Amino acid sequence: MSSPPPTVESWLSDEQSRSLANDVLDGLTKPFKELSPKHLYDARGSELFELICGLPEYYPTRTELAILRDRATAVVADTAAAELVELGAGAADKARLLLDAMHEAGTLRRYVPLDVSESVVAVAATTLADAYPGLGVHGVVGDFERHLEHVGRRDDAPRLVALLGGTIGNFPPGTRRSILRKIAGLLAPGDHLLLGTDLVKDPRVIEAAYNDSQGVTAAFNRNLLHVLNRELDADFEPEAFDHVAFYDRRHEWIEMRLRAVRPCSVLIAGLDLRVEFAAGEELRTEISAKFTRPRVGADLAAAGLALEQWHTDADGLFALAVAGRASKDGR
Ligand code: SAH
Ligand code: TRP
Repeated sequence: MSSPPPTVESWLSDEQSRSLANDVLDGLTKPFKELSPKHLYDARGSELFELICGLPEYYPTRTELAILRDRATAVVADTAAAELVELGAGAADKARLLLDAMHEAGTLRRYVPLDVSESVVAVAATTLADAYPGLGVHGVVGDFERHLEHVGRRDDAPRLVALLGGTIGNFPPGTRRSILRKIAGLLAPGDHLLLGTDLVKDPRVIEAAYNDSQGVTAAFNRNLLHVLNRELDADFEPEAFDHVAFYDRRHEWIEMRLRAVRPCSVLIAGLDLRVEFAAGEELRTEISAKFTRPRVGADLAAAGLALEQWHTDADGLFALAVAGRASKDGR
């Protein structure tokens, strides 16, 4: 059976440029400057992230892949998943392991990759539609904070929503819970969430993962300034900013920043805004929170979800949580 052609729907474009402009105006006029991490992922940013995933210091990707290789069959057996909705899908390598298990179980029907990065959705949709004959693929270019209603539902096939790669940790605790609450809205009784979280561990291991020796993470971080130059006609000199990533032991998260090496006066022409950086001043670009099982359980509970299964590697580096709706009549 050949596959129906994949469809790709975009909810960004104009609206996305407005969101970038709003976020930049808001973030760069704060007393401590900061920017939302979703703007790191233009086509170049997605490419650099792919390179990060292959770095020797960056343990999360290979560890999560190993857990999936081990446990995808169990996850599919426990959830009876027929439809995989992947939020922040990226290159969708991890989806393949889940789709393989669904295929083996004879349940595989539909795959819905959603990402803000248009380039990755197009590639994921076409390669996976080719790889799995008969699979319905519906790509969504959109923001999982704003466009989840466009995921749609074609039938009542049991749904598995995956948010992998530790992406949920890129949001501060309050936002994280509100995103999980929105995701819970995609789940009917009997549907599940598969949530990948990086775990609390030796800070040296974590810091190395975000300060790689080849400088790929630094290039990824600085790419944000190239995005602002291109999209908002700004005149940042990216080389005038150092990549800084450190583990905040109290909050148990990594903080990524860009630090001005000298005073910089930046014109963001598209916003008619001038922004001054003192020498040494920092701009926060991303956090990456690390988790424990109780922290994941509490975040899920706050979103009306219950932790049902916990899959981790032998070294306890990374975890995959399976959650369902908390209500008693949920299943
Ligand atoms: N799932 C892949 C990629 C993780 S990187 C993996 O586990 O390796 C995070 C991905 O989420 C990127 O592809 C990025 O484009 C996407 N992303 C980040 N913020 C997003 C948002 N608000 N809405 C949709 N996608 C987002
Ligand atoms: N979700 C990834 C993480 O938190 C994102 C990430 C990895 C990242 N390396 C980065 C984001 C470097 C910015 C810069 O691990």
